Amino acid sequence: MRIAMIGAGYVGLVSGACFSDFGHHVTCVDTDQGKIDALNNGEIPIHEPGLDALVASNVKQGRLKFVTDVASAVGAAEVVFIAVGTPSRRGDGHADLSYVYAAALEIAKAIKKFTVVVNKSTVPVGSGDEVERIIREENPDAEFAVVSNPEFLREGAAIRDFKHPDRIVIGSSDQRAKDVMAEVYRPLHLNSSPIMYTDRRTAELTKYAANSFLATKVAFINEIADLAEKVGANVQEVARGIGLDNRIGLKFLHAGPGYGGSCFPKDTLALIKTGQDYEAPLRIVETVVAVNDQRKRAMARKVAHAFGGNLRGKSIAILGVTFKPNTDDMRDAPSIPLITALQDMGAEVRVYDPVGMEQAKKVFENVTFCEGPYECARGCHAMVIVTEWEQFRALDLKEMAAIMACPVIIDLRNIYSPDEVTRNGFLYSGVGRPQ
Ligand code: NAD
Ligand code: UGA
Repeated sequence: MRIAMIGAGYVGLVSGACFSDFGHHVTCVDTDQGKIDALNNGEIPIHEPGLDALVASNVKQGRLKFVTDVASAVGAAEVVFIAVGTPSRRGDGHADLSYVYAAALEIAKAIKKFTVVVNKSTVPVGSGDEVERIIREENPDAEFAVVSNPEFLREGAAIRDFKHPDRIVIGSSDQRAKDVMAEVYRPLHLNSSPIMYTDRRTAELTKYAANSFLATKVAFINEIADLAEKVGANVQEVARGIGLDNRIGLKFLHAGPGYGGSCFPKDTLALIKTGQDYEAPLRIVETVVAVNDQRKRAMARKVAHAFGGNLRGKSIAILGVTFKPNTDDMRDAPSIPLITALQDMGAEVRVYDPVGMEQAKKVFENVTFCEGPYECARGCHAMVIVTEWEQFRALDLKEMAAIMACPVIIDLRNIYSPDEVTRNGFLYSGVGRPQ
């Protein structure tokens, strides 16, 4: 199959590289000339484990290309994926579909034969209809079908998720398009990944329902963690105790500083807006968003609590600033409101992240950027674990205690055992566990 991938960001680049690895011929198109130049120089613009080797090998074998010219890529393709961003629209929380519709217009101009246009971006219900209308209006003679094929990969585990998905959802009522999609995903189907065919609107809603449900699990366990702290229970054991029930499941029950990232925050907001538009309010999701928003400041208060509520004159080491490990993505990272709140409370903040420093420097002001965890913690009054990078699990706590002004660990990801940490002389506070 010849595939054009419009947008070479987290999803477009990973999907393009994986499709080419399946044997398809993929051209990734991006309007960002710098990104395309970097990719053509063998540089991967994002941190995603395994992606550099996957891209390099498929480029070498001639199955993966990077260009800025939509027309040539679309003209040659049987399938065109739209994988551009759909951020929150400024001010109202609706998904901003301007990139999707701009891509649709460019595609319309370049269609030469029957082409399957696939929306992989996360888009509200009805966006596929609008993409179809745009293409039809711009190019009335075009032969095409618009399919919804939402993507469920997670950053940091993107290649594994793409190649071994729990399911593939394909929304289309056009048999020719379904046959083409079956061919595109044939290697995964052979690998026993379930493919679910449905209509386009159902596929679009499925994506938002999935992300909102996962966000709900996280917000739920975070509230249980708060209660566990008050009643002297252990949230990790509660999570296991409920998660072993197959109807609930063990995943997405890790209490922490609140969910962040480029998707849960914007997708929950967009789903709420769709619910309001159709007068079918999503009150549970509305509460999840409110609970999650409040949590970041509550985590700053948790840090302050260790110092009697006052952070003036205190230096705080923040370990981990990306929204989760194994990515350099800082979009809507919990560290952002948390650090702002700590600074508002008078703290001086020092920051270290294993791969997120370059992005962090674009986001934070008035913080000290450090080269490593020990440099970061040196002279500090508290060390706060915000992102659970593996390397933070193996820190030499004795050395840490010796170099800090005050041995306090606020572990917002519960990566340490309270006993071990206190044995090393630290005052310790985790999330939802007896102290
Ligand atoms: P991103 O911002 O990393 O990448 C989008 C890319 O599209 C950018 O490189 C941008 O330059 C390019 N672009 C914008 N308009 C273009 C156009 N007209 N032609 C060509 N290129 C264009 O975004 P992302 O994180 O990859 O997300 C893309 C979509 O996938 C979003 O809808 C998101 O919700 C969804 N999604 C993301 C993830 C994830 O883990 N990031 C997972 C599943 C779904
Ligand atoms: C999420 C979904 O998991 C993917 O299925 C989806 O494709 C993607 O959004 C998307 O639509 O973009 P991602 O945002 O990459 O993936 O990362 P997650 O692993 O889901 O984590 C999201 C946030 O929830 C992170 O801040 C993470 O720390 C937090 N989280 C997650 C918890 O606090 N506890 C948990 O148990 C799980």
